[in-house]
Amino acid sequence: MVNIIITGINGLLGQKLLEQAASKFSILGIDIHPEPFNKQINFKYEKLDITDRRLLTESILNFYPHYLINTAAMTDVDGCEKKKEQCWKINVQAVKNIVYAARKIGTKIVHLSSDYIFDGKNGPYSENDSPSPLGYYGKSKLASENVLHASDLDYSIVRTMVLYGAAINVRPNYVTWLISALKENKNLKIVTDQVGNPTLADDLAATILKIIELEKWDTFHVAGSEIIDRYKFALKIAEVFGLEDNFISPIITSDLNQTALRPLRSGFNVIKATTELGVKLSNIEEGLNIFKRQYRKMKS
Ligand SMILES: NC(=O)c1ccc[n+]([C@@H]2O[C@H](COP(=O)([O-])OP(=O)(O)OC[C@H]3O[C@@H](n4cnc5c(N)ncnc54)[C@H](OP(=O)(O)O)[C@@H]3O)[C@@H](O)[C@H]2O)c1
Repeated sequence: MVNIIITGINGLLGQKLLEQAASKFSILGIDIHPEPFNKQINFKYEKLDITDRRLLTESILNFYPHYLINTAAMTDVDGCEKKKEQCWKINVQAVKNIVYAARKIGTKIVHLSSDYIFDGKNGPYSENDSPSPLGYYGKSKLASENVLHASDLDYSIVRTMVLYGAAINVRPNYVTWLISALKENKNLKIVTDQVGNPTLADDLAATILKIIELEKWDTFHVAGSEIIDRYKFALKIAEVFGLEDNFISPIITSDLNQTALRPLRSGFNVIKATTELGVKLSNIEEGLNIFKRQYRKMKS
């Protein structure tokens, strides 16, 4: 079987990749935690900090992967604003480490990036639109893309947004957070002026594996097929889960006083991914219904 390394294997996307790739590849999963979160699937796991160039290189040279998917990142947008050095180390320096080791053996890379590389003034964005990040997380993600552009490796950059899904022990995503809050009858103020494509993590994982299968080395926008604002999305989640939506009220982003600026009118045009890769990206209704089945199974 072909060897593949998945970094950030305990994260939401990492776990979805593991579920879908385990029967097709020999996998080495890397993450910062002592143990793998998914213990039902048999795979090789290493606790490793990808910012440690020596250990990462050793690991990559030992396993000799044909492909490496880098999902590991500091994804806390406000945290990146407050801890810039740490953010740069994980989101940029570690990608340099990956490239350094991958060049020794010709490993091909799929790297994850974000809509936060855009300023959200005139989305939806296509792959060749000019980036202009507002905050430090977006800057670090753009810099990570440039690390790959400067390399002579085969690589794809996959930009995504508003990722949701059900996985073991992962930090809350927008959908799981909202469901928990609604179940506790919490009053929620949700922004009406941030738009984007909610993305089912399973679709993203399947698309990444398709990129590898077809060896398409390029930049792709991979997200759900529909654009919606967060407030309407919250109402939709409540409807699909049969939860009371009286506790959800509209607000605008500037009233939240968040540390990092967010791209407001974001969104991705995903036509390149669907036509060139032949993948199906769920719309909101489809994605939420798939998620609902997984969520209920996980909670039962
Ligand atoms: N989630 C979104 O809405 C979204 C949107 C756009 C782009 N993306 C990108 O998509 C990718 C996957 O996102 P995700 O939501 O699946 O992320 P995630 O759930 O936060 O998973 C990332 C995993 O990497 C681990 N990690 C962090 N630093 C590490 C290090 N130095 N060495 C090894 N492992 C480390 C994390 O551990 P800890 O949890 O302990 O930090 C976590 O298990 C990321 O590159 C992200 O930037 C995500």
